[in-house]
Amino acid sequence: MKDFQQIFGKAPEAQASAPGRVNLLGEHTDYNDGFVLPTAIPQRTTVHLGMSKDGQHHFYSEDLDEQVSILDGNDTPSGFSSYIYGCIQLLEQEGYTIPKINLHVSSSVPIGSGLSSSAALEVATLRGVRSLLNLPLDDVRIAQIAQQAEIQYAGVQCGIMDQMASSLADAEHMLFLDTRTLELRVIPFPTGTEIVVMDSGVPRTLAGSGYNQRRAECEEAARLLGVKALRDITDPQAVEALPEPLRRRARHVVSEDNRVLEVLEGVSAERFGELMNASHASLRDDYEVSVPALDTLVAMLQETKEVFGARLTGAGFGGACVALVAAGEARAIANDVLERYNSADFLGKILVPQVS
Ligand code: GLA
Repeated sequence: MKDFQQIFGKAPEAQASAPGRVNLLGEHTDYNDGFVLPTAIPQRTTVHLGMSKDGQHHFYSEDLDEQVSILDGNDTPSGFSSYIYGCIQLLEQEGYTIPKINLHVSSSVPIGSGLSSSAALEVATLRGVRSLLNLPLDDVRIAQIAQQAEIQYAGVQCGIMDQMASSLADAEHMLFLDTRTLELRVIPFPTGTEIVVMDSGVPRTLAGSGYNQRRAECEEAARLLGVKALRDITDPQAVEALPEPLRRRARHVVSEDNRVLEVLEGVSAERFGELMNASHASLRDDYEVSVPALDTLVAMLQETKEVFGARLTGAGFGGACVALVAAGEARAIANDVLERYNSADFLGKILVPQVS
């Protein structure tokens, strides 16, 4: 582990951090102008920054022990530095003059588990630059710039959920977000509950996956239905005439939006759990973004006592599951399920609650 001082030979001038997120309900709805319900996780990405004096940006990742230096006119870097560089480029496009900087990044957000390590890096970077240069950016604007960095520099046509969650959510509440209007509401967890997050051990690569394809299918479905986005359909019957697979894709989005909206009316832990279970079935059967390992892990969680409901979380194609469980039971439930899951020849991990 090398800190900023060891890498750059002087103390940092600013620092910032941002959390990863887990989504409780509302999956693959954000790029359909729909509704989401994420919360922040305890794991965070931290950046330390200072001015660079040699005319180049220098970015160092403590976890990879890798340093990347960027001269103007260089090709866009790849890997962790593409997110940082993307954020800086976008700030310049906004009209800010960004001097060359040294930036040190360290993170406890797992990579490739669907917990938004990239959004945490983008939001931490933008917060760090905001603090270093006193930029007048609010947290929503930071999320919007971070989303553009992901789209333009990482090549994922993502919605805005992850960056809004990383920029505005805390770990004690759920954050309801209307992704069309950006209306936000802080919502308490159902009384007497806490969450478990487990990694299936099957990594996912978002850009290489069917994510962009699902997005295109949804846009085509909306076009055929004559609406701006699938968010404008509230009656599940309205999608029945669409050709396959658009009918099932749209059915997932419409039913998922309705599940999130039901939570806003105030639901019990039991009902919230049922909605999570229904969400998983819909992601598996209609949206087809689950994989056998996730189905196994979710089934093990769902059949465990004191679990109200469980589902895959994030984009799918591998990654993590989230469960709503009785307060005080998260640690015991996660240990028990992990043992059963890994005895079935998987390599799962407990992510929340964190091992202290
Ligand atoms: C990824 C994207 C988000 C969202 C989810 C699926 O995490 O970055 O914008 O679309 O997948 O709900």
